[in-house]
Amino acid sequence: MANEQTADRIRFLRLLRQVRNFEPRPVPQEAIDDILEVGRWTGTASNSQKLEVVVVRDRQKLEALSGMGFTYTPPGAPAPVNTAGHIAGAQAAVVIITEGKAEQIEMEAFDEGRLVERIMLAANAHGIGSGIAWLSIEGGRAACRLLGVPEGRRIKTVLSMGYTDAEALRARPKRGRKPLEEFAHIETY
Ligand SMILES: Cc1cc2nc3c(=O)[nH]c(=O)nc-3n(C[C@H](O)[C@H](O)[C@H](O)COP(=O)(O)O)c2cc1C
Repeated sequence: MANEQTADRIRFLRLLRQVRNFEPRPVPQEAIDDILEVGRWTGTASNSQKLEVVVVRDRQKLEALSGMGFTYTPPGAPAPVNTAGHIAGAQAAVVIITEGKAEQIEMEAFDEGRLVERIMLAANAHGIGSGIAWLSIEGGRAACRLLGVPEGRRIKTVLSMGYTDAEALRARPKRGRKPLEEFAHIETY
């Protein structure tokens, strides 16, 4: 039987959601520092530690990054969305930089996913919401130029960050998750 602390931890993990609307309140530097420390300690394949990040708070840069996504219509959505549009309203962004080596793309993608999820959880531990934004291929190159990232590196994912606009989150159409029995198969498929 799980005790209260375990139940709290499980709830904390289970309730993490994508946030795309933020309050105008700035994010404290100490929260960013904690988030970066969690990121730095995230495990990578063979402990290669190839990932780096750029933290962006500058409004003009945030706005520029928000234009580097692509349009996409999620399943069931009434209209196309700009994948990176929410960066414009964020108070900060964490831009993930991978080595960009084609021969290790799977490893990089896996490491990147682990890092992103942990950063989102660390932000949530500070009561800060965050949202994934994928950039287009050209957008990723433009982001490298904007941020002075060395040639050849790759930017695909940007995390926008800020205190969650709770009302906007509540007003969002609810898309839940498929039932447990469709997700988890025990012993055999
Ligand atoms: C690999 C990946 C890429 C994503 N790219 C974007 C994106 O470009 N823009 C965006 O707004 N959300 C993006 N998302 C967020 C998903 O839309 C979100 O996780 C999903 O809708 C579930 O949201 P919820 O946890 O709030 O229910 C991405 C998520 C993942 C896992």
